[in-house]
Amino acid sequence: MPTDTPKPFPTDFVWGAATASYQVEGAAREDGRGESVWDRFAATPGKVRNGESGEIACDFYHRYRDDVALMRELGIDAFRFSIAWPRVLPEGRGTVNPAGLDFYDRLVDELLAHGIEPFATLFHWDTPQALEDAGGWPARATAEAFAEYAEAVVGRLGDRVRYWMTHNEPWVHAWIGHAWGEHAPGRTSEADAVAAAHHLLLAHGWAAAAIRRAAPDAEVGIALNLAHAYPSSASPEDEAAAWQVDGEGNRWFLDPLFRGSYPADLRERNELVAPFVRDGDLDAISAPLDFLGVNNYFRFIVSADGGRPSVVRDSEAQHTDMGWEVYPDGLYRLLMRVTADYAPPAIYVTENGAAFGDVRVHDGRVHDPERTAYLETYIDAVSRAVAEGAPVKGYFVWSMLDNFEWAHGYSKRFGIVYVDFPTLDRVPKDSFYWYRDHIAGLRRVSPRAPVTSG
Ligand code: FCB
Repeated sequence: MPTDTPKPFPTDFVWGAATASYQVEGAAREDGRGESVWDRFAATPGKVRNGESGEIACDFYHRYRDDVALMRELGIDAFRFSIAWPRVLPEGRGTVNPAGLDFYDRLVDELLAHGIEPFATLFHWDTPQALEDAGGWPARATAEAFAEYAEAVVGRLGDRVRYWMTHNEPWVHAWIGHAWGEHAPGRTSEADAVAAAHHLLLAHGWAAAAIRRAAPDAEVGIALNLAHAYPSSASPEDEAAAWQVDGEGNRWFLDPLFRGSYPADLRERNELVAPFVRDGDLDAISAPLDFLGVNNYFRFIVSADGGRPSVVRDSEAQHTDMGWEVYPDGLYRLLMRVTADYAPPAIYVTENGAAFGDVRVHDGRVHDPERTAYLETYIDAVSRAVAEGAPVKGYFVWSMLDNFEWAHGYSKRFGIVYVDFPTLDRVPKDSFYWYRDHIAGLRRVSPRAPVTSG
């Protein structure tokens, strides 16, 4: 008999790994792919560390077969990837580029041939540049274009891909890309960010309907970046400050999706969004979802600083190479809270992981005990939430591969597989083997049927 301690993960729990198109694919000019806002932003001096870009990235576009073989070795049930809109519609709207869709067709077939369920995200921030030039996400027309794009993709892949996410982290794209200027498209206007966020949500609602029309058996969700906000003390001021941070980051997306309204306590934000909200928008946004994707990396500790919320750092705590606090209990609390307040029918942890300064040493291996400890403790936090009733159905490590970490270029390594960027060699890190053994150990305790849906 196996000696492993059974963890309260259901036998059909999905273990996976995640990537995103611009971060791994490369092949930026091949097979008719159009320009994306990230190509333009990365080519703008001073925007990305060392002037790096996703032009080659991990060359996943050409090496996906080898990478799927690694996934097979890892033993994952599912792979989360995103589709590059400018491969499918180089100008954002209009004529579909079949060669762009062919790539995802091949990838999906390769995954299925290896018993790995595809989890596809339609938008992970690589808007076609032509749409940005026409007004971008602050313009409502971009949401219309997104619904057309969703229809084209699902029309082609929906017979084999069952799990769809419309967007990845709309907060990040709206605020970091449109208010803070640190991500593409590099805008610096709070009003643009609020409009972009509304149109991203609207695009989600319209695309969800388009997915269901094209593939009635689809499981439809969205991946949000969520982080539990802890007050730095029990004072009413700090509690109120934490609630405000929660509102701006979490509830601004969760409330419209699950309750059909923006949170009323964020008065200034509501005034900014009001001109963009039309009758019916919130009904479209709040159409029932099959699952919520939760991306989580850290928590917030918030104190009231002269009336404004200020995020503070626990200097005693461990922090990753991103400066993000390692705090697994934050994921447990987040999952319990989302379950209690919004009752999603299912939750997938669609991203969780850590960057550390990994090096390949003289034995040719990459020893990353901090990442293994991170994954172990965060997965344990997920298991506690599952045991207490959170409907978590799966967990995806960010990331399968070291990749282009946006404005940080290649300097932040999140992979469980090391990528030697000059040669593009892949080296599974120690955490890869830990994750492989973790999954295999659970399977020994409770074998599962193949995930692949009919
Ligand atoms: C998330 C993104 C993902 C990656 C990780 C580290 O915000 O969705 O692309 O950059 O952070």
